[in-house]
Amino acid sequence: MREDEVRTWVGDARTAFKAAADLDSLKTARLIHSGDKSPIALASRALGSMSPEDKVNFGKIIGEAKAEIASALATATALLEAERDRKVLLEEVVDVTLPVNRAHRGGLHPISIIKNEVSDFFIEQGYAVQEGPELESGWLNFDALNMPADHPARTMQDTFFIQPLESGMVLRTHTSPVQIRTMLTQAPPIYVICPGRTFRADELDATHSPVFHQVEGLVIDKGITMAHLKGTLDNFASNMFGPGVTTRLRPSFFPFTEPSAEVDVFFNNRWIEWGGCGMVNPRVLATCGIDTDVYSGFAFGMGLERTLMVRHGITDMHDIVEGDIRFTRQFGVGL
Ligand code: DAH
Repeated sequence: MREDEVRTWVGDARTAFKAAADLDSLKTARLIHSGDKSPIALASRALGSMSPEDKVNFGKIIGEAKAEIASALATATALLEAERDRKVLLEEVVDVTLPVNRAHRGGLHPISIIKNEVSDFFIEQGYAVQEGPELESGWLNFDALNMPADHPARTMQDTFFIQPLESGMVLRTHTSPVQIRTMLTQAPPIYVICPGRTFRADELDATHSPVFHQVEGLVIDKGITMAHLKGTLDNFASNMFGPGVTTRLRPSFFPFTEPSAEVDVFFNNRWIEWGGCGMVNPRVLATCGIDTDVYSGFAFGMGLERTLMVRHGITDMHDIVEGDIRFTRQFGVGL
């Protein structure tokens, strides 16, 4: 073993470590130049069989060579690890300004949300929810409700009549025919609400839509008075518009109630027309076979679009009809 040989091993190791392009090639170079079978390791092992004098001499030379090889290896390792980390950072970079996946969950339309709200409120008070067909007989939509043939609402302007006209069918102009259907099929006591879609031959504008929604209320029981009606409406109003909101009744006329009234609600510091109501006309009760000596009742009807518009300050019916999610999303998903 000669000293210049040992220096060659150190030089070879340095060159190989420097040449390694990545940590894997560095590992191969390390096994060759400083592993168990490397010349420097074999020389180190051979020290054991040397004379004490040679052992001291070569021990020093080999010790220094090993330290240099280890230091060259450490330098190369540090360099290659830093390079790997830099690459990882570049490859795994995330652009936080990219748009996120905007797939929205579906939700209920605000009209469905408010319809469910109204239903939940009345179900809590023991009412049943009753539904009827949108294509209705003229008899149930008008006659049974004491609307005589010459009533203005029966002219072509308001009602969608179904051809052939002799069919007597109409798109229901209100939810009131569901009152009749209920009274014809159920014996009192009756506590129902009837939410649903209604139709009138109106142009779509800021306050009208040919397709809209109403909710009807009907109570038939012994000893029902207008006080019950007023209490129910106040309770309903405060549930819809906020605690303490009350209603006022203004005398009015509907053929199916006697007496009849308009319902106003006090909201945002002013009285706003909300719907119609009254005591069910005994003629209507009699038509449905209900004994007017025993039973009396009240009824009311409100527009759901109107309720929503008043409550949320919506000024254009188009927003409700068009279903633009930028509008509907403000009301939540309602699920
Ligand atoms: N049906 C009426 C309308 O569409 C609303 C209405 C008024 C319903 C008075 C009622 C009522 O039940 O008692 O304009």
